[in-house]
Amino acid sequence: MYKSFYKLQRNPFEITPDPSFLFPTTRHNEALASLYYGVTAHRGFVVLTGEVGTGKTLILRSLLGLLQRRDVAFALIFNPTLSPLEFMRYIAGDFGLPVTGKAKDELIHVLNGFLLQRHEKGLTTILVVDEAHHLSAEILEEIRLLTNLETSQQKLLQIVLAGQPELDQKLDSQELRQLKQRIALRCHLDALSPNETREYMGRRLKIAGAPAAGEIFSGPAIEAVFRHSRGIPRLVNTICENALLSGYAKNAATITPEIIDGVARDLRLGVVAVEPKNNGGAWLSKEREQNELLLAVKTLLEVHDRLLGPETKGRLQ
Ligand SMILES: Nc1ncnc2c1ncn2[C@@H]1O[C@H](COP(=O)(O)OP(=O)(O)OP(=O)(O)O)[C@@H](O)[C@H]1O
Ligand SMILES: [Mg+2]
Repeated sequence: MYKSFYKLQRNPFEITPDPSFLFPTTRHNEALASLYYGVTAHRGFVVLTGEVGTGKTLILRSLLGLLQRRDVAFALIFNPTLSPLEFMRYIAGDFGLPVTGKAKDELIHVLNGFLLQRHEKGLTTILVVDEAHHLSAEILEEIRLLTNLETSQQKLLQIVLAGQPELDQKLDSQELRQLKQRIALRCHLDALSPNETREYMGRRLKIAGAPAAGEIFSGPAIEAVFRHSRGIPRLVNTICENALLSGYAKNAATITPEIIDGVARDLRLGVVAVEPKNNGGAWLSKEREQNELLLAVKTLLEVHDRLLGPETKGRLQ
């Protein structure tokens, strides 16, 4: 909608994790390099953690993109709330192995044969689990058993777990100390610094074809984006996307800090419900998520109405 107004060829702030937009901060670079090394050097088990919206899925997609150029087979699990049998089925199925009617130990047997065959040909095989903080202790135990599939020199299956910081806590628990000892590499993603936020926005705008990225968002507007997002890339994207829509509706060639403040207010970014200590936390955060979604939809509808108003109608034709 706003693309031609700001002379852009594509949306700069999509929230889907698209590797072509990767902005290589030192930490994102290190994480990608560690995962790549861990997997290709057959180190066995690597873990990536980071706060919500800091780029874990993006790094996994970038890793898989890099690995696709090599002859690597991978199973990707992004819904880890499965039973142990479903989990094994899913993995075997993703590798194209026969799964119907097979019990868990049969599936492990088939999987082992497949991994050995690939190993003999010098090929790498990977299991990637995103959202791994949701994994149950039962599934983590299955993963530990999978790390046991090995020859005398090497692990047969490379395992990458990515998840929010609760994953670290899970892996630190007494119950999972055996699994923790098997982790060969750990990496962590953080929010962006103010400088990185500015460069991140500039890079996205440039990739989207902005003639002069710095001119769309004023310096103070970029500072406001950092203030409201605290450097969390997903929030930066949401704020900027909404700001471009709002700026377009207001016919503003440059996005000002006032526009950013208005968007942050509409998205209720400063509002965090106080969660009761003992229960209801998950429910409250779900409710907050729904409220935020409703507000985002409301903002979009308002912008849409404004766009259809008499002063902007002309620009749409
Ligand atoms: N270094 C980066 N370069 C470019 N875009 C990034 C970067 N880091 C994060 N993003 C963008 O931020 C958004 C959120 O990233 P992503 O979905 O990968 O986060 P996540 O850590 O997996 O979040 P969650 O914990 O909710 O699963 C995406 O649009 C992604 O493209
Ligand atoms: Mg993710």
